[in-house]
Amino acid sequence: MTVPLLAAVSGASWEADLVAALEGGADGVTVVRRCVDLADLLAAAAAGTGRAALVSADLRRLDQDALIRLALAHVAVVGLFTPGDDVAEARLRVLGLDQVLPADTPPHDIAAAVASSLAGAQRRRASNDGGSALLSYGDPAAALTDLGSTAAVPNGSNGQALSAESTGWLDPMFEPGTGRLVAVWGPTGAPGRTTVAVGIAGELALAGVPTLLADADTYGGSVAQVLGFLDEAPGLAAAARLANLGQLDLAALARVAPTAAPHLRVLTGISRAERWTELRPAALEAVWSLARSLAAFTVVDCGFSLEQDEELSFDTAAPRRNGATLATLLAADTVIAVGAADPVGLQRLVRALGDLSEAVPGVNPVVVLTKVRSGVVGTEPRKQLAEALERYAGVHDVTFLPYDREPLDDALRQGRMLADVAPESVVRQALAGLAATLDGRPPPLRRRRLLRRG
Ligand SMILES: Nc1ncnc2c1ncn2[C@@H]1O[C@H](COP(=O)(O)OP(=O)(O)OP(=O)(O)O)[C@@H](O)[C@H]1O
Ligand SMILES: [Mg+2]
Repeated sequence: MTVPLLAAVSGASWEADLVAALEGGADGVTVVRRCVDLADLLAAAAAGTGRAALVSADLRRLDQDALIRLALAHVAVVGLFTPGDDVAEARLRVLGLDQVLPADTPPHDIAAAVASSLAGAQRRRASNDGGSALLSYGDPAAALTDLGSTAAVPNGSNGQALSAESTGWLDPMFEPGTGRLVAVWGPTGAPGRTTVAVGIAGELALAGVPTLLADADTYGGSVAQVLGFLDEAPGLAAAARLANLGQLDLAALARVAPTAAPHLRVLTGISRAERWTELRPAALEAVWSLARSLAAFTVVDCGFSLEQDEELSFDTAAPRRNGATLATLLAADTVIAVGAADPVGLQRLVRALGDLSEAVPGVNPVVVLTKVRSGVVGTEPRKQLAEALERYAGVHDVTFLPYDREPLDDALRQGRMLADVAPESVVRQALAGLAATLDGRPPPLRRRRLLRRG
């Protein structure tokens, strides 16, 4: 069978010649439509006119969103670039295309690339359930040279190797690509997700671990405010925009994630909830993948909801508000589920844990109960809370954070880290213990004593 091909290539003579050669229907492919621009290509793809597309790197508005739309229309894509244009080639790869060829490639080889791209798309579809296919497109890390070897240096935004001084921000103590992603999530009702995310990121950094704290809460981020940042520019939205354009690399990610303290970078979030569409799941997935080369730990403050609009979640690239949280949870190595230690908070957490295991099959969250106090639960809150979680959610292991209002208020008022403002407070000690277990270190001395006594 001949594969019907859509061509959206620039007017350069070799590309025109290539399309003319392929129009004849040789080598198992035939050009069925020459598209004048991206909109024309997307319309033809949505109408089912072609099964594959040739796109040139200089096609206006070609970005990750457009490629997702083509993928959802089951159109496999081959990217073409002007021979010798390394920047264009790198950009196509960063956007997530695995079949990228110079435009002077013989038609026979282009046809082979179309066949490989089709096979790859079929494999991806088979391994993804419909909705999450949206989340697996684009891999900026693919454009990096072998990060594991000491000789390798990540690419700059112009596709050139970066000089040693311009990579000064790379932490020499950690091997790029090995960073871990920790998603801090929990049900509605402000249980304390941001407090936990900021707390553990701060503690990891204090222990000398290169850490990136990111705010992906699409219902109104607060990390910047909690840390006393005056600049309102949302770093995570900027990183997502660059990822969507295929322009995100390590240097660019480092630029939009300023250093807030030694070993701590911060990607601030959207402070205005209506900007949630800027945190597209596919772009975030690309950001998290690259973050593994910027920091040993990336701690993400997530939104609370996992609800998916059934009508929107299949076969459409419409933005979904909870897509950012889902993409983060799916990519995470560790999910921390935070609940408030009162009857309402507990019931919400039990339900939320059920939703979580549906949305992220096989997830094994670290369950944290915050604001633990006796008044609202009973005289032995930890025992009673642990029993309730075991009975209703099958959770065997719970980390408790005590209710400790004053130090948290002081930190919030001053826009500073808890560890700076109230290093001896019990809530800080508990957060330090949680961070240490993530990192595989023994808990700090004081906590160990407390544990022994307990
Ligand atoms: N262990 C604790 N003891 C006392 N107060 C706490 C504790 N943890 C969090 N809080 C307080 O609870 C409030 C909500 O916390 P936080 O902002 O971390 O929650 P959130 O889950 O991120 O909420 P949101 O839904 O607004 O994002 C804050 O005022 C915070 O200081
Ligand atoms: Mg929050």
